[in-house]
Amino acid sequence: MQDSQFLTTHYKLSHQKGKFTWESPSNIALIKYWGKKENQIPENPSISFTLDVCKTITSLSFSTKTKKDDEFSFDVFFDGKQKDAFKPKIKTFFTRIERYLPFLKDYYFKIETSNTFPHSSGIASSASGMSALALCLMSIEKLQYPRMSDDDFFKKASFLARLGSGSACRSIEGDLIVWGEHDDIVESSNLYGIKYPLQVHKNFKNYQDTILLVDKGEKQVSSSIGHNLMYGHPFAFQRFEQANRNLSKLIPALKNGDLKSFIEIIESEALTLHAMMMTSLPYFILMKPNTLEIINRIWKFREESGLHIGFTLDAGANVHVLYPENEANKIYEFIKNELVAYCQNGHYICDKIGFGAKQI
Ligand code: PMV
Repeated sequence: MQDSQFLTTHYKLSHQKGKFTWESPSNIALIKYWGKKENQIPENPSISFTLDVCKTITSLSFSTKTKKDDEFSFDVFFDGKQKDAFKPKIKTFFTRIERYLPFLKDYYFKIETSNTFPHSSGIASSASGMSALALCLMSIEKLQYPRMSDDDFFKKASFLARLGSGSACRSIEGDLIVWGEHDDIVESSNLYGIKYPLQVHKNFKNYQDTILLVDKGEKQVSSSIGHNLMYGHPFAFQRFEQANRNLSKLIPALKNGDLKSFIEIIESEALTLHAMMMTSLPYFILMKPNTLEIINRIWKFREESGLHIGFTLDAGANVHVLYPENEANKIYEFIKNELVAYCQNGHYICDKIGFGAKQI
């Protein structure tokens, strides 16, 4: 594992000021990352669908500092309002990536950011937010290296985003992204996400994700605390092994369009993630009664209809209902008639698999 490929030597800045804007999608993991080593290295590989509708849009304006000092100098605006509460997380991010982007202390930055999904929706914006910021920073670096290839640009953006929030490294490209070394996926890396390089059946084209917003409040336990609770967790070793095995099983399911196996793997992953939370010390539960109600109704409807509806969960109470495009009409009717009643204020988001970030 070599992070030296991302180091650059200190250079004389060629630009005094400028502005870049990127929009980055959120992503939903099918095989979950839960547990990390030092420097945001995952304990096991993960794979995700990049989303299409849920995005963060970030503009980064930069200008050379009038007075040189050894500090990071920036302000953050969220939905047009100054947001100092975001500054500590960004400062930590800058501290971690400084050795890879030597210009960070030479500029003052104005970061303006907004999300396409409601702020208090329980949808984490750290993946889309950190990836959008990493891409803006890479655009500045590209001014110094105009001949940088797209491949190198996106690889380093993913590498940097990972240091902001692990899963953010899967929010640069689409549509299926793998992060973390796995024996069956040759180019996979613990340092950045890669496009899933193996065959994917047409059943997964335009795969739908209806996100049911069960609880829009702040999570009681952050994912960084959750990851840390995997240190010394009684089932940690088995869990990391299982994630590797599940990814091996997912490969033929994706290739053959085997929706039944796909659903079995992703639902097991979702429930295992929450089982890890319930069996850590201290233990905690992020699912709500309505999360369970929705899961039971999905299972009943699947049994009765024979349709390929499945679910996954992230580290919260919301349910991502996943289904193929050619069954979308019937499944969406069911969601509206039977599941939306369990959402907070009836709110949900219709999303689908997407193709990655865009510069705007
Ligand atoms: O990227 P983090 O540190 O917020 O962790 C994300 C963890 C999960 O969303 C639960 C799983 C995943 O792989 O995205």
